[in-house]
Amino acid sequence: MSTALRTAFRAAFGRDPDGLCAAPGRLTLIGEHVDYASGLCLPLALPQRTVVAAATRDDGRLRLRSLHRDAQPWEGSLDVVGPGHPPGWAAYPAGVIWALGHPVGGLDLLVGESVPPGAGLASSAALECAVALAVDALCGLGLGGLGLGGLGPGASSAGRATLAAACRRAENEVVGVPTGGMDQLASLCCTEGHVLLLDCRSQTVRQVPLDLLAAGLVLFVVDTRAPHRIVDGQYAARRHSAERAAAALGVPTLREAAPDQVDTLTDPVLRRRARHVVSEIARVRTVVALLESGRVRDIGALLTASHASLRDDLEVSSPELECAVDAARAAGALGARMTGGGFGGSALVLLERTATAAVTHAVVAAAARRGHPEPTVYEALPSRGAHLISAHGKVRKGV
Ligand code: GLA
Repeated sequence: MSTALRTAFRAAFGRDPDGLCAAPGRLTLIGEHVDYASGLCLPLALPQRTVVAAATRDDGRLRLRSLHRDAQPWEGSLDVVGPGHPPGWAAYPAGVIWALGHPVGGLDLLVGESVPPGAGLASSAALECAVALAVDALCGLGLGGLGLGGLGPGASSAGRATLAAACRRAENEVVGVPTGGMDQLASLCCTEGHVLLLDCRSQTVRQVPLDLLAAGLVLFVVDTRAPHRIVDGQYAARRHSAERAAAALGVPTLREAAPDQVDTLTDPVLRRRARHVVSEIARVRTVVALLESGRVRDIGALLTASHASLRDDLEVSSPELECAVDAARAAGALGARMTGGGFGGSALVLLERTATAAVTHAVVAAAARRGHPEPTVYEALPSRGAHLISAHGKVRKGV
C-alpha cells in the first residue's frame, strides 16, 4: 500500500511525499455517549486505518486529494480555512491544520486507504488523527505527537493529547459536529492488545490489557451496512439533553450526578437520557474491574445491558442493529451491543471462539429474513494507535 500511495501521490502532485502516517478506526467496547458528559469510555483501535501521504509547501497553500471516488479534490489558501470552510470532506484535514494553531507553510496531502465511512467506527477521527500526526511530524510543529514513550500502561502522551484536542476542535468548529472527543483520543492513544480507559473529565488514559485469544474468546464487528448519519441533528440533540439534565440537577456534567439524583428529574425524556449516561459510566467501571481481574467472559452481560440502555433510554439504535444484536445473542453470544454514535453503523459481539460459525451464520441469516443489507462480520483485534509509516529526513520527534 505504501508504494502504491507514493506512486499515486507522485501522479497527483508531481513530487514525492515527505512521509506517510496512519491512524486507526475505533470500536467502543463500552462507554457510549458519555464522553460529552465527562464520562468514562473504553475504546480499542481497529486494524482498519486511514493512511495519508503528505509533503510540505512554503507558499501558504493546501492541496487535498483522496483516492476515494466520492471525495472531490480541494485546494486553496490556508488563510480561508475556518468554521464552515472548506465544505465537504476537505473540512476535516483543513480543519485540523487550522485547529493546530501553529504556522504551517502549506501542504500537499493525499488520502489513501481509509476506515470505512458511515460504519460507526470513527472514520472522521482516523482522517483527522492521521493528518494531525503528519503535520506535526513533517511541518516541525514540535508538539511531540510521535513521542510514544508515554503510551505504556498508566500514562498518556501529552503530545498525543494535544493532537487529539486539535482534531476534536476541527470537527466541532470547522466541520460543525459537536462530537465528544473519545474517537480522537482512541485513534491516537490506543495500543495493541489493550482497551483504553479514557477519563473524559481529567483527559487521562490508562491501558487495560484485553487478551481475547488467551480467554478463548472473539470480539466481532458486525457492520450492518446501514449507514449511520451523525450529522443529522440526532447526535447533537442527545448531547444537548445531557447538558440540560446536568443543568437541571445543578451539576457541571452528568459525571457528577448520582443515580438517585437522576430519578428526581421530572421530564421523563430527560430522565431516561440522563439514566443512560449515569448507568453507562457505572458499567464501564465494572467492566474495567472484571478485565483487570481476568474475568473477560463476565463482561458479556454488561455489553448487552449497555445496548439495552442505548436502545431504550437514549433511543439511538436502529432496526438493523437490533436484528444483529438479537440474532447474535440467540445464537449463543456472550454479549452484544451497538457501537459508535448509533442510528445505524456497527454492532460488536463477544463470543466463544467455538461459536464463530454459528453466530456469523445467524447474524447474516437474520438480516436476510428482514430484508436488510447483508452485514459484514469480522474479528476486531485490539490494534496500535496512530503512527508514522515512513518519512524522508524531515521528521522532528519532539516529546
Ligand atoms: C461518536 C462521537 C463520539 C462519541 C460516540 C458515542 O463516535 O464522535 O465523541 O460521543 O459517538 O459514544
